[in-house]
Amino acid sequence: MSSTFRIACIAGARPNFMKIAPIMRALAHSKVLEGVVIHTGQHYDKAMSDTFFGELGIPEPFLNLGVGSATHGRQTGQIMITFEEAMDTIAPDLVLVVGDVNSTIACALVAKKLGIPVAHVEAGLRSFDRQMPEEINRVLTDQISDLLFTTEEAAAVNLAREGIDAAQVHFTGNTMIDTLHHMLPKLDAGPALAEVSLDAEFGLVTFHRPSNVDEPATLGQIAELLVAESQRIPLVFPVHPRTRNRLHENGLWKSLQVAPDLHLLGPLPYTQFLGLVQKSRFVLTDSGGIQEETTWLGIPCLTQRTSTERPCTVDVGTNTLLGEDFGATHRAISSILDGTYKSGSRPSKWDGRCAERIVEILEQALPDLCPQV
Ligand code: UD1
Repeated sequence: MSSTFRIACIAGARPNFMKIAPIMRALAHSKVLEGVVIHTGQHYDKAMSDTFFGELGIPEPFLNLGVGSATHGRQTGQIMITFEEAMDTIAPDLVLVVGDVNSTIACALVAKKLGIPVAHVEAGLRSFDRQMPEEINRVLTDQISDLLFTTEEAAAVNLAREGIDAAQVHFTGNTMIDTLHHMLPKLDAGPALAEVSLDAEFGLVTFHRPSNVDEPATLGQIAELLVAESQRIPLVFPVHPRTRNRLHENGLWKSLQVAPDLHLLGPLPYTQFLGLVQKSRFVLTDSGGIQEETTWLGIPCLTQRTSTERPCTVDVGTNTLLGEDFGATHRAISSILDGTYKSGSRPSKWDGRCAERIVEILEQALPDLCPQV
């Protein structure tokens, strides 16, 4: 009879790492739970993965499944095959998945079919857009999870609509914000700004969603927008590998590179990227997590998407959804520059203590979820 329950925490892609870090820290303080990190290898470049483990103090993975990039079916399938094969070695009592990437659904599905309970952190978020691969991952992961930890109040309403028992759902807050809270003293825009020799005000840009960057016509409009807007305020654009590939394939890289006030960078370490967010006049993005980080920091966020799965960032935060209307982006930037853009406040329970609440609930729930241990 063991008194320790082993929690396998799945980290696969860049946005998972900041959600896992505080959970591993809180697990390290538990007397009854032991956390191990399983890296699926969905993201593998140093700049997309290793850097974050070092900066955020995430323990060395117990195992790296090394799956790499592929089509959705192949990548998801490869994660499932390798994770299932490793289950005897990992021997988890519960598998904890975060967010909505392919690693999230793949590992949840394998665990559940082996009769191992699953906890989903960041459950219940819905964009209601089933064209987004992440929306499929979210809906399916929530359906098979035993414990669902939510970041905002709207999530419980979505889960109830999908028939999930309210007793399984816990509004604990936001682990991505735990990381931001923890890392705040270390944020440093300096190295990135020095790299592009910028000491003026700037806007920060990120784009990587397939709906924006995989569609050549849309990508072309985004490139035009960035060149034009950079003439009003310098823009800093750390480019995601997917986006960099698409810009090259579509012959657009050069037009961005020659724009004098559009500063292209590679993917940045956490402390530098969030340092830039904190120092920026605004962020123009199609990311999910950045909508939350800007809201918490009080920085205007312009989201170039038709939907958001994080409605509190629009309702109480600093976020505005711009759809595919680039004229609206221009007008929103004008309102930021002339000081008439809205200000926001911080959503409930985004207080840096979410991971502690999650671990407390896991400690109470595990004996019932795994009575055989
Ligand atoms: C994935 C997630 C997305 C998340 C994003 C954050 C899914 C379905 N999508 O999208 O939700 O917002 O991560 O980054 O899980 N590549 C590299 N090096 C890497 C990783 C990727 O060069 O370390 C390149 C490869 O060419 C790859 C492409 O980027 O084909 C896209 O990577 P992939 O993991 O398929 O999806 P993301 O767009 O990163």
